[in-house]
Amino acid sequence: MTMKKLIVANWKSNKNLSETRKWLEQFERETKMQIATKGLHYRVAVAPAFPFLPLVSDFLQSTHLHKHVGLAVQDISMYPAGAYTGAISAYNLEGFDVHFAIVGHSERRRYFHETSQDIAKKVEQALENGITPIVCVDQGEIAEQANAIEQSLHSKLIVAYEPHEYIGTGNIQAVSEVLSEIKEINAAFGNIPVLYGASVNPETMGELVAHQEIAGFLVGTASLDATDFAEMVM
Ligand code: PGA
Repeated sequence: MTMKKLIVANWKSNKNLSETRKWLEQFERETKMQIATKGLHYRVAVAPAFPFLPLVSDFLQSTHLHKHVGLAVQDISMYPAGAYTGAISAYNLEGFDVHFAIVGHSERRRYFHETSQDIAKKVEQALENGITPIVCVDQGEIAEQANAIEQSLHSKLIVAYEPHEYIGTGNIQAVSEVLSEIKEINAAFGNIPVLYGASVNPETMGELVAHQEIAGFLVGTASLDATDFAEMVM
C-alpha cells in the first residue's frame, strides 16, 4: 500500500480571528460529506498564525475533522523554554496536539536571517518535543542544510523542496527539475518523504500528484481559500 500524500496549509501571516473562524467553518462544511463517506484522499495539516493555534486546535478536536486534519506551526524557537522574550518554544506548544513544525522556510531565511545552523537547532527542539519538523530547502542549500543537521536525526524528518522563485507566482517548476532536486534531497538526507511547495493550487496540482517521488505539498496562497483547499484535499 502506498502512503497517503501529505498536504500542509501554510497561512503565513494572513488571517485575523474572524477570518480564521470563517475558514474553519467553511472547510468543515465542504469536507463533511467526503469524510463521512470515503474519508480524505490525503493526510492534511493546517499551519495557522500562532495566536489562532488554540482556536484551530479546539475546532479540530470538536468536529469531524478530528483524526483527518492535524495541526502544524510555521516556525518554532531554536531555544528551549526559558528567558527568550517573544519566541514560541516547542514547550509552549505542549497540549495543542501540534504534529508538524515548518522550519527554515525561505521567508524565514530571507526576512529573519535564519541560517542552516539555526534551523538545525529548531529541528532538535521540535523532535525533543515530539513534533515532526518539515525542513524547507531550496536549490543550492540542500547539502548545507543536511550537513548542519545531525545525521542520526535525518530519518525523522520531512523535507519540503521549495524553489523560492516559483513561490506565490501561480507557476510551478518543471516537473523534471522538481524530480531531480528531490533526488538530490534523498541523496543528502536519506530516504525521507519530500514535499513540493511553490504555487500548488487545484489546477497545478494535477501535474505533480501522479509522481510517487513527491510525498505531498506545502500550500501557501491556495490554502487561504477554504473552498480551494477543500478541493485539493478531497
Ligand atoms: P505559495 O507558497 O503556495 O503561495 O506559492 C508556498 C510556500 O511558500 O510554501
